[in-house]
Amino acid sequence: MKKILVTGGAGFLGSYICEELLKRKYEVVAIDMADGEKIAHLMTNKRFTFIQDSVCDTALMKHQMKDIDMVFHLAAIADPLKYVTNPLNVMEVDLLAAINIFKIAAENRIKIIFSSTSEVFGRNKNVPWNEEDDRVLGSTEIYRWCYSTSKSACEHYLFALHKQEKIPFVIYRFFNVYGPKLDDLGHGRVIPIFLKQFLNGEDITVHGDGRQTRTFVYVDDAIDAVIKLAFSKKAENQVFNIGTSREYSMHELAKTMKKIGNFKSKIKFVEHKKVFGKGYEDIPRRVPDVSKLKKYINWQARVSLEKGLKKTIEYYRNRKGI
Ligand SMILES: NC(=O)c1ccc[n+]([C@@H]2O[C@H](COP(=O)([O-])OP(=O)(O)OC[C@H]3O[C@@H](n4cnc5c(N)ncnc54)[C@H](O)[C@@H]3O)[C@@H](O)[C@H]2O)c1
Repeated sequence: MKKILVTGGAGFLGSYICEELLKRKYEVVAIDMADGEKIAHLMTNKRFTFIQDSVCDTALMKHQMKDIDMVFHLAAIADPLKYVTNPLNVMEVDLLAAINIFKIAAENRIKIIFSSTSEVFGRNKNVPWNEEDDRVLGSTEIYRWCYSTSKSACEHYLFALHKQEKIPFVIYRFFNVYGPKLDDLGHGRVIPIFLKQFLNGEDITVHGDGRQTRTFVYVDDAIDAVIKLAFSKKAENQVFNIGTSREYSMHELAKTMKKIGNFKSKIKFVEHKKVFGKGYEDIPRRVPDVSKLKKYINWQARVSLEKGLKKTIEYYRNRKGI
């Protein structure tokens, strides 16, 4: 039986990946600093082990990676507010710990599946972005770029590791995955933030003028792509966008959620600076070109935003809040 390590396995996406791998009869070890609430339902599975600890602990990682066949590296600080309030921690986890894990994987000749982000494209205005498009980033004085830069450096490291040491990898870049279990991370992610405000009967705070757009992909569709990519020989040593191309303005998103959930909240607009301070910079449009996914693994998103939001809203209503 093959054994797979999932870092960040108690997080939103990691928890679904652990579940899918267990369904496919793999032995799974998850390492995460978070409590195991999102994976509580997996704890009785004899093929599952959860270690609540930090991926920054080199001795732990060396020990855990001695006898595994593949590593899905998802552990990261992925909260925009932290990019500006604790950039040091972001770079320690998202850059230094990640590179350390890649080195250990290389020593053990383990295939690496790496979670990157749409943020690597920065503020490139030419959407939709295909995988080879330019990264257009701001100054190093702007803290928000520390996340994008860390993930991009990891991507570079994996390409180099393959070129010079023949270590196989797959990189995928998520474009706003949402669904049940996606937490409100401070001021991080728009759907859970709006949802929390709706469920609490508060006003909805749309940042800026609300015309900035995002695309969204439902978690089941995203995980389907991740698993297919991880086990596809053809997809090895390449990078893929995972997302959808339908753009929603933040104002439109708030209105859609209001309608689907039959909520009563008012929609208001607040300046970005008031929320994130000076070190932040918003990106007006982020749209992936996902034709490579279609070509390599015949993937396409099946769940519409309306359907996905309905499932997400139901989940949080049943849980009585976020
Ligand atoms: N959800 C998205 O739309 C999205 C978009 C782009 C990229 N990503 C990437 O996908 C991955 C998973 O994201 P997610 O949405 O599941 O977020 P998440 O915050 O739910 O998951 C990240 C997990 O990493 C864990 N973690 C952080 N620091 C750690 C440390 N030092 N040691 C061990 N665990 C640590 C956290 O506890 C958390 O459970 C991340 O790498 C993120 O950058 C996600």
